[in-house]
Amino acid sequence: MSNRKILVTSALPYANGPIHLGHLVEYIQTDIWVRFQKQRGNECYYVCADDTHGTPIMLKADREGITPEELIAQVSKEHTRDFKEFGVAFDNYHSTHSEENKQFSALIYKRLQDAGHISSRTITQAYDPVKQMFLPDRFIKGECPKCGAADQYGDNCEACGATYSPIELKNAVSAISGKKPIEKDSVHYFFNLADFTDMLRGWIHAGHLQNEVRNKMAEWLEGGLQQWDISRDAPYFGFEIPDAPGKYFYVWLDAPIGYMASFKNLCEKQELDFDAFWSKDSETELYHFIGKDIIYFHALFWPAMLNGAGFRTPSAIFAHGFLTVNGEKMSKSRGTFITARTYLEYLNPEYLRYYFAAKLNAGVDDLDLNFDDFSQRVNADLVGKVVNIASRCSGFITKRFANALADRCSEPAMFQDFVNANNRIADYYETREFGKAMREIMALADKANQYIDDKKPWLIAKESDKEQELHEVCSMGINLFRLLVAYLKPVIPVLAGNTEDFLNVSTLAWPEAARPLLNHAVHEFKPLMTRVEADKIEAIVAASKENLEKTADKPKAKQFEPIADTVEFEDFAKLDLRIAKIIKAEHVAGADKLLQLTVDIGDETRNIYAGIKSAYAPEELEGQLTLVIANLAPRKMRFGISEGMVLAAGPGGKDIWVLKPDQGAVAGMRVK
Ligand code: MSP
Ligand code: ZN
Repeated sequence: MSNRKILVTSALPYANGPIHLGHLVEYIQTDIWVRFQKQRGNECYYVCADDTHGTPIMLKADREGITPEELIAQVSKEHTRDFKEFGVAFDNYHSTHSEENKQFSALIYKRLQDAGHISSRTITQAYDPVKQMFLPDRFIKGECPKCGAADQYGDNCEACGATYSPIELKNAVSAISGKKPIEKDSVHYFFNLADFTDMLRGWIHAGHLQNEVRNKMAEWLEGGLQQWDISRDAPYFGFEIPDAPGKYFYVWLDAPIGYMASFKNLCEKQELDFDAFWSKDSETELYHFIGKDIIYFHALFWPAMLNGAGFRTPSAIFAHGFLTVNGEKMSKSRGTFITARTYLEYLNPEYLRYYFAAKLNAGVDDLDLNFDDFSQRVNADLVGKVVNIASRCSGFITKRFANALADRCSEPAMFQDFVNANNRIADYYETREFGKAMREIMALADKANQYIDDKKPWLIAKESDKEQELHEVCSMGINLFRLLVAYLKPVIPVLAGNTEDFLNVSTLAWPEAARPLLNHAVHEFKPLMTRVEADKIEAIVAASKENLEKTADKPKAKQFEPIADTVEFEDFAKLDLRIAKIIKAEHVAGADKLLQLTVDIGDETRNIYAGIKSAYAPEELEGQLTLVIANLAPRKMRFGISEGMVLAAGPGGKDIWVLKPDQGAVAGMRVK
């Protein structure tokens, strides 16, 4: 076996939300491929990172009253934990908000600039006069200029499909402040993608892309390549562009560079040779696994950037399709927007790994998670076929033969057939035809079960003169089981690990030269996998709907609703507005905008988090009166539950006023 040197990446998940089952298609696909490479003895590294920059992350931190750094640290912990429990075994998991990434981003930019591939010019954009920032398209809402549909985002209309620039929207408002955006000029920096037209034309036809992806790229090239806007104005969470104060790299510039940065970080930890993987004359392999929505960035911008900056380009981009659940787009209201965390509370992650493997191929078609099919496949294949072989044979090996396998293989030809299948299975893994690999392995499992059905050890066991035969049949069964699990090891590593313990072997190597285990002591068999219980799936769907209800009141949902022009009286009448006395005010550890208030609203005391730390020290507030909404639904925040809302006036920062002068008002008094 030749020893290849391979660097593999998955797309970097955004640090503003949890990992969900859609993401996991990609991370599980990549992880299986990497585990396969490692099992085959190749030198393979799998790196990833959180994608931490950009406006959505900055605004989310804002809403939660924490700094972006605090947000991304928190999310990184959650992501890392989810991946670990799903068996996604990165060699390194880093962050795009890292020193390595800052340096590589600056270096690549500098080299592109020196080579004349960067230009700048003034552009006009929508600007939120209240929030004092330029608005990305998706933060502008208004009426479609073509069909007039209300509430459309700034780049395209969901009603009629028209695409336009946000400036064309009618009655546009900022989704952040609800105010009408103004137009404002600013200098932007651009990457001259068209300089790379010839290079890309060659590259996309040189075997680095799947056919359907190549065709799409060819179309884009035909249409002519535009300059790519790579700068954003402050306030922006990202890296400031060298020699351009107040200008930041657009998140998509430094995101793919995050692949290099994560690998660089690994090189430092493990003393690996970075240049061997990234220099122009590198002889190693580099693969990016991505979803089909981000092909443009990886198949055009990224190779052009690398080429322009004097680095190697990827050996291949492997794009996959999107996950649907029960035939439809994942939906929060249907309870099919399932987070990794929710799934883990109910089901074994290896069920999902196997199910995805069984459905994945090398193409970009979407794949469906159908709950009935999921249970049926896992139960029939893993439990019913594979694990069953060991259950059927191991009892006799323990009870009758003191856990020792026979000293002779009764069906060497059959064993050899199973070994010979390794080339075909390896080809399927290598070419990401995991579904075909699983079918091949299950066909072998059928053969192994057929063998046991034919031999009927449970009958032989009753005949006292057939000890040797019983021993050989059961040992044969265990030996076939061992090969099957070795083939499945990239997909179900935990089950494979437990099988290694049971078989008392150090590791299940790829079975290209496997010999039967003879005269070998195994350990007592413990059940390796139980059946999927249908009620667990129902519980996941129910819990996913609950998550939705819990988050429905979060400021996130509210903040993006433009402020209504008028409110009906009956809505106003629903508010229980009261004078409250602030009994206690405290700092909240880890929050730089929030104070925790204990307030007396007359008949009870409440715990309220208020984003007023920039304007008040806690001691100024204690004993003062303020106005609160007493019947606001309790809201779970990172720091605890907020049971109401303090009303305040002012633009923010130091200028927030919450206190009502004490002119006879007392706590609990209704305000009308
Ligand atoms: N941050 C960017 C990637 C930067 S790579 C330099 C991003 N992040 S993401 O969190 O939105 O998506 C991460 C990966 O998960 C992407 O490859 C994306 O295609 C994939 N998926 C996200 N939702 C998915 C499904 N529903 N189904 C399958 N894959 C999906 O994009
Ligand atoms: Zn329209």
